[in-house]
Amino acid sequence: MLKVKPVAVDRLPALLQLMPKAELHMHIEGSLEPELMFALAQRNGVAMAYEDVEALRRAYVFDDLQSFLDIYHAGTLVLRTEQDFYDMAHAYLARAAADHVVHTELFFDTQTHTGHGVSVEVVINGLHRACVDAQAEFGMSASLILCFLRHLSEEAAFECLEQVLPLRDKLVGVGLASSEMGHPPEKFARVFARCRALGLRLVAHAGEEGPPAYIWSALDVLKVERIDHGVQAMKDSALMARLVKDRIPLTVCPLSNLKLRVVSNLAQHNLGQLLQAGIVATVNSDDPSYFGGYINQNFTETFAALALTAQDAYQLAHNSFEASFIDEAQKRAFQDRLASTFETFQ
Ligand code: HPA
Ligand code: ZN
Repeated sequence: MLKVKPVAVDRLPALLQLMPKAELHMHIEGSLEPELMFALAQRNGVAMAYEDVEALRRAYVFDDLQSFLDIYHAGTLVLRTEQDFYDMAHAYLARAAADHVVHTELFFDTQTHTGHGVSVEVVINGLHRACVDAQAEFGMSASLILCFLRHLSEEAAFECLEQVLPLRDKLVGVGLASSEMGHPPEKFARVFARCRALGLRLVAHAGEEGPPAYIWSALDVLKVERIDHGVQAMKDSALMARLVKDRIPLTVCPLSNLKLRVVSNLAQHNLGQLLQAGIVATVNSDDPSYFGGYINQNFTETFAALALTAQDAYQLAHNSFEASFIDEAQKRAFQDRLASTFETFQ
């Protein structure tokens, strides 16, 4: 690992901005900004429950994950056509490119949209076209991870999988999102086994609000390769040892944890402790339109609150490539670019 030369605190935000990085935990529906939401509502003749953009933004105050999911779900009602999904993803990819995200793996779900009468083809073809165009337009790679909704049944997840199978080549993997408490990973054991047999890469949200036991079962029952959030792992030292030994990455989302009251303030966030323990932690934005910031905002606010260093920045960006589902040669190429950014930074 590169030994990074110290960087003055006032220069750290510039370095955090400039360093190439991968974003691996971002729900594309959670990137839909109020301005675009109103524009799509108008384009599609969908009524909005809020007067204007400011009134909508004022409603973005949450008590916990569920209170967020309710408002997030309402926001998805404006998405009707393939072009809507393209426009939403294109807006995120442009924003991420400005933050020097060079690779991203986007979460989306189809169950929300099919529940509104929108087909899986509309969703996936729109998102996938935006991912393909991002390479030419922003020099950025982007792939798609389908999240099953865990508050629904395993049978519903199987139905979802059957619908998307003809589009399987447009997906890199599957994940598990939505209300965590009361919906442990093992509820989806069979559908994840089937996805594994299909060669899909596996991730799951676990240990955001839920207990370490959910992280154990995501690993041992679902056999996931990454844990989304996972910040509750620190309550279980045997689990921490397992995550370190097997280099299981955690995709941590500090501003999400703050806004959903997983932590009461950023100074209490355990990102620094996770790194110290040798966990392959990464920084991500989760639902940037709702949680007050894209990936670099997550980096800069968390670094300021926890007094993290340039060495930590390098480690987190290095981890983001290690944790990604790109091939080994591409990982090395991004990590080399990262090292040269740090070596030449003044
Ligand atoms: N947790 C679970 N489900 C989600 C989230 C999250 O943070 N964001 C969007 N869906
Ligand atoms: Zn998430």
